[in-house]
Amino acid sequence: MTTVGRGRMRIGVATCRAAPDLDEDGPLLLAALDAAGADAVPAVWDDPGVDWARFDGVLVRSTWDYPLHRGAFLSWARGCRRTVNPAGVLAWNTDKRYLQDLARAGVPTVPTVFLAPGGPAGGVPGAGDVVVKPAVSGSAADTGRFAGLSDPGAAALVAALHAQGRTVMVQPYLSGIDTQGETSMVFLGGGFSHAVRREPLLGDVGVRRAVVVADVLGTVRRVEPDDAQLAVARAALDAVPGGRAALSYARVDVIPGDSGPVLLELEVTDCFLFLASATPAGRAQLAEHVLGELRREG
Ligand SMILES: Nc1ncnc2c1ncn2[C@@H]1O[C@H](COP(=O)(O)OP(=O)(O)O)[C@@H](O)[C@H]1O
Ligand SMILES: [Mg+2]
Repeated sequence: MTTVGRGRMRIGVATCRAAPDLDEDGPLLLAALDAAGADAVPAVWDDPGVDWARFDGVLVRSTWDYPLHRGAFLSWARGCRRTVNPAGVLAWNTDKRYLQDLARAGVPTVPTVFLAPGGPAGGVPGAGDVVVKPAVSGSAADTGRFAGLSDPGAAALVAALHAQGRTVMVQPYLSGIDTQGETSMVFLGGGFSHAVRREPLLGDVGVRRAVVVADVLGTVRRVEPDDAQLAVARAALDAVPGGRAALSYARVDVIPGDSGPVLLELEVTDCFLFLASATPAGRAQLAEHVLGELRREG
């Protein structure tokens, strides 16, 4: 391939069958990539008709169905010439056991117990409601809030996920989210870009249906994160294997804990980026970083 560095770069923007034309970020993203000098086209990651070799590189975006196909997703990513974010980071970030790495690195994190199928049962920190969700998950799918782990609904969800061979995570329901919401901080091209506040999704006890971006967009508003929230975000990004310099995009979601914000999720795979809340300069920084990463030798 000799076109890299000369002419316009060809970028495949990976999405899923449910969103073949990308999500609500799509038009802004494609415009920024176009302005930066790339021909970017959406392509469904597991569409056998796509020849990924014809792209100089692949930008991973709305690949929301990977939780049920993680192995295939990661081998696809490794098979691409280069992905943004890098395939090694995707492998690490698509299993929420990464939270253990971040907690060990000193990042304030929602207390979490992981229950592997066939493994020992575990207690849950605290006495109130609990949240049960799969360790490989997104869109709040198969996620529920219950009065405790012994609640029949919780036991049924754990059993159902274990029957599928999936590791389950259990967390205390942190009720600060009810009044202060969840704060998503978006980093583009290495720097902080913008943040939004999201309303709690588990206001009621029970298993909720998966969310779609449109549901979330209707209730978000742009906010300025405080220093404590930004410090958690930066600590989390500093602990990403391979370092944060290689990350073209990242979203750090925090909720209120007992003594300050705690990390709920660090998303460097297929996170919605709320690009309408970024500035044009922020979107340009994302596009320039993507092109820089895809141009890098080695
Ligand atoms: N421990 C928790 N306490 C309070 N709310 C939670 C907790 N875990 C999840 N939630 C709610 O459920 C939503 C989805 O959970 P999350 O951990 O972000 O998984 P994902 O977004 O990958 O499906 C969050 O946005 C939040 O509203
Ligand atoms: Mg989330």
